[in-house]
Amino acid sequence: MKGNANVLTHLQKLLNSELAARDQYMAHSRMYKDWGLHELYERLNHEMEEETEHADALIERMLFLETQPDFSQQDAVKVGSNVKEMLQNDLDVEYSVGAALKEAIAVCEQEQDYDTREMLVRLLDDTEMDHAYWLEKQLRLIDMVGMQNYLQSQMGKGDPT
Ligand SMILES: [Fe+2]
Ligand SMILES: [Fe+2]
Repeated sequence: MKGNANVLTHLQKLLNSELAARDQYMAHSRMYKDWGLHELYERLNHEMEEETEHADALIERMLFLETQPDFSQQDAVKVGSNVKEMLQNDLDVEYSVGAALKEAIAVCEQEQDYDTREMLVRLLDDTEMDHAYWLEKQLRLIDMVGMQNYLQSQMGKGDPT
């Protein structure tokens, strides 16, 4: 089925962000693993998988709407150099994807593409209620208990390697 051009422009923009989010979580999760922060590794590796699913949903929808997704426009990945910076960079990505999703949802309504809208609402729920909320909690915990205590809580039981 031929898609609406305005909707498709937003889907491409979202794909650029989801692919970057996936790679940022891949980089950060592997850094946490190397540092022995097993709990953080596990969580971020899971987020990486969810971002892959988000990108996948967008790709499938674009193909269904008879448009070839462009994989060469991915947004920049912002790799942090310490845990707080990494969590903050990830939260910045989630906030910006959340805003872009809301914009795209409004366009879908305007263009009466309700199936795409439904898919985007699912992505928004993951983005706001899961990813961003978890990151907000981690940054608040660091303020509450201090970095050393937080890091100790994230070492987990064993080395994942
Ligand atoms: Fe996502
Ligand atoms: Fe996310």
